[in-house]
Amino acid sequence: MSVKDKKDQNNQVPTTGHSWDGIEEFDNPMPRWWLWTFYACIVWAIGYSIAYPAWPLISKATPGLLGFSTRAEVAKDIAEVEQSLAQINATLANAELTEISADPELLGYAKNKGAAVFRTWCAQCHGSGAAGVQANGYPNLLDNDWLWGGTMEDIHLTITHGIRNTSDEDARFSEMPSFGEILEKEEISQVANYVMSLTGDPQDVTQVAAGETVFLDNCAACHADDGTGDRYQGAPNLTDAIWLYGDGYDNIVAQVTKARNGVMPNWNTRLDEAEIRAVSTYVHSLGGGE
Ligand code: HEC
Ligand code: HEC
Repeated sequence: MSVKDKKDQNNQVPTTGHSWDGIEEFDNPMPRWWLWTFYACIVWAIGYSIAYPAWPLISKATPGLLGFSTRAEVAKDIAEVEQSLAQINATLANAELTEISADPELLGYAKNKGAAVFRTWCAQCHGSGAAGVQANGYPNLLDNDWLWGGTMEDIHLTITHGIRNTSDEDARFSEMPSFGEILEKEEISQVANYVMSLTGDPQDVTQVAAGETVFLDNCAACHADDGTGDRYQGAPNLTDAIWLYGDGYDNIVAQVTKARNGVMPNWNTRLDEAEIRAVSTYVHSLGGGE
């Protein structure tokens, strides 16, 4: 008797002929519905892998006859959006800077677009909320204390060309000298106390009068006689209690002895004119715009 002809005890179902300790394995056929579903899946998989990208190759996958690609779909969507925004971007890039705020639709668009540009390109230095990184030289852009000016034209110029960088010859430029080698330690201490007196910080009052003389001789050319600063030179107002490099005796002495001069990249090589205007509008709208 061949294996195939073996039947179970009741001779109902064929067995495979395998037997373990008397337990025999039935040889039932697969249910028909299951078998056909299985075949259908195979046919579908073959069809799919011909029509769509499927088999991984070294650097990409087989393209598939339909030429479908998620990357191309995204590129198409982006192109469509850009197409639909081309008009308003052109308007933004060509409008008078001072007139952007007069057109509510343009203003709204510029602020939204500017906020997105800011998150991508500016937040790493100025903070996601544009509040700067205190005492680190990254200015707060929310207040109305401007190093270089807070009108749309000023902000646009600052962003376009940057500050003290070497890649744009129109960058804002000025340099606070280091007075460590120019002034005596005593004079630096005096002038620091004088600067602290401008904001009413606790100071050594015996040094203030001498400090004022040092200030007028060495500092006023940039920070102005009354210490309110000079935007043409990006020299901060020293009377407003807003500090780029931190308040207090130690921080002021440190800046006077060995001056830090903040650098910002120019953005005209990375952003297009519509983007620069959008982010200028956004910064201008944050609260300190003039
Ligand atoms: C690599 C760091 C860095 C990045 C990125 C950066 N900034 Fe600045 N930004 C600075 C520094 C530092 C200053 C202060 C320079 C100084 O001391 O005069 C500054 C100053 C400014 C000022 C002048 C503020 C004032 O008081 O006059 C504006 C406006 C400004 N940034 C806007 C932007 C915008 C908009 C972007 C994004 C497109 C941006 N910044 C990206 C570092 C950066
Ligand atoms: C040639 C112009 C110039 C002269 C002279 C000058 N400064 Fe400055 N000072 C600047 C500039 C520009 C900055 C801002 C640097 C920056 O943005 O990174 C600055 C920054 C400072 C700061 C930091 C302010 C802050 O907000 O943290 C202090 C303090 C200061 N100066 C004090 C003085 C004193 C005191 C003298 C005189 C002994 C002096 N400066 C002379 C241009 C000048």
